[in-house]
Amino acid sequence: NQNIYILAIESSCDDTSAAVMQNDITLSNVVATQKIHEEYGGVVPELASRAHQQNIVPVIHQALAKAKIDKNQLSAIAFTRGPGLMGSLLVGTSFAKSMALGLQIPLIEVNHMQAHILAHFIKEEDFNSPGFPFLALTISGGHTQIVLVRDYFDMEILGETLDDAVGEAFDKTAKIIGLPYPGGPLVDKLAQNGNAHAFPFPKPKVKGLDFSFSGLKTSILYFIQRETAKNPNFIEEHKEDICASIQYTIIEILMSKLKKAVKETGIKQIAIGGGVSANSGIRKALKNAESELGWTTYIPKFEYCTDNAAMIGIVGYLKYREEIFSDQSISAKPRYVI
Ligand code: KG4
Ligand code: ZN
Repeated sequence: NQNIYILAIESSCDDTSAAVMQNDITLSNVVATQKIHEEYGGVVPELASRAHQQNIVPVIHQALAKAKIDKNQLSAIAFTRGPGLMGSLLVGTSFAKSMALGLQIPLIEVNHMQAHILAHFIKEEDFNSPGFPFLALTISGGHTQIVLVRDYFDMEILGETLDDAVGEAFDKTAKIIGLPYPGGPLVDKLAQNGNAHAFPFPKPKVKGLDFSFSGLKTSILYFIQRETAKNPNFIEEHKEDICASIQYTIIEILMSKLKKAVKETGIKQIAIGGGVSANSGIRKALKNAESELGWTTYIPKFEYCTDNAAMIGIVGYLKYREEIFSDQSISAKPRYVI
């Protein structure tokens, strides 16, 4: 029963991350976030890949040093193959391939969306992993999915966004009311002191378990334009109420689809991941669903919700156990369905 040490690399969007796992335990999880995108109000792909190129070596060195593991002790290298930005994925993919080749150890490709879900299997004190089957809601700046998880590698997408991701809905509406990027956390903060029912925004009618957020963004834009034409100080005077109303609408959309998914599958175990799971409103709504609807909900530590390499590492470990390896012919896959 030898220990397995996985070095994992994540570079799909704008965070460069490296982690070392000892089996299902995180020894280190280093994330270098890229500040450069803030002034552009969103991720600029060309700048992201350049920053990955600069960050990747120091981040990997730090991850190995923090874990007190020598590279020669590693059992395998795991990396994010996709989905994500091509230029960003290429940095991690090329680095992982070279490193596995140099060390003559197995290479393991990982699907980023699968990793957001399997992050729930990283062993942590005070955290129970869900049992199968469960429903996963992945909500971040890049993704919005409801996935039926039958087993580690048996997943089915039940619904996903047809346009913007939830995080984008937060960030784009935040931008309309003049908040800096990324606006999600600020909307959350301001919403705490606002009236969620002050301004009712329409909820989109979308078939099945799919989502749409672009209409919400447009209706908020028109609403703000209309109100500021009447009162130039409208935003300043009602910022908290506007944020609370936006947040309320987004959570209503998410919760109504989740309830529908529970009804259709009969599964009441709900695991959430992605940066938006930090949102206090969604957390409250899920807690309420536990007592009112008998759900069991799972929210991992925040560092495992946002993009990170430990989630890639846990998939690396699970695949290593089953000897699911890749060879040197593998390439990055920007559109990679679970
Ligand atoms: O997972 P993540 O760090 O990166 C990816 O997009 O993959 O998620 C970032 C997103 C951003 O859109 C950010 O505004 C949103 O998560 N976010 C929040 C909160 N914290 C982060 N949105 C609403 N409320 C929050 N507390
Ligand atoms: Zn992600």
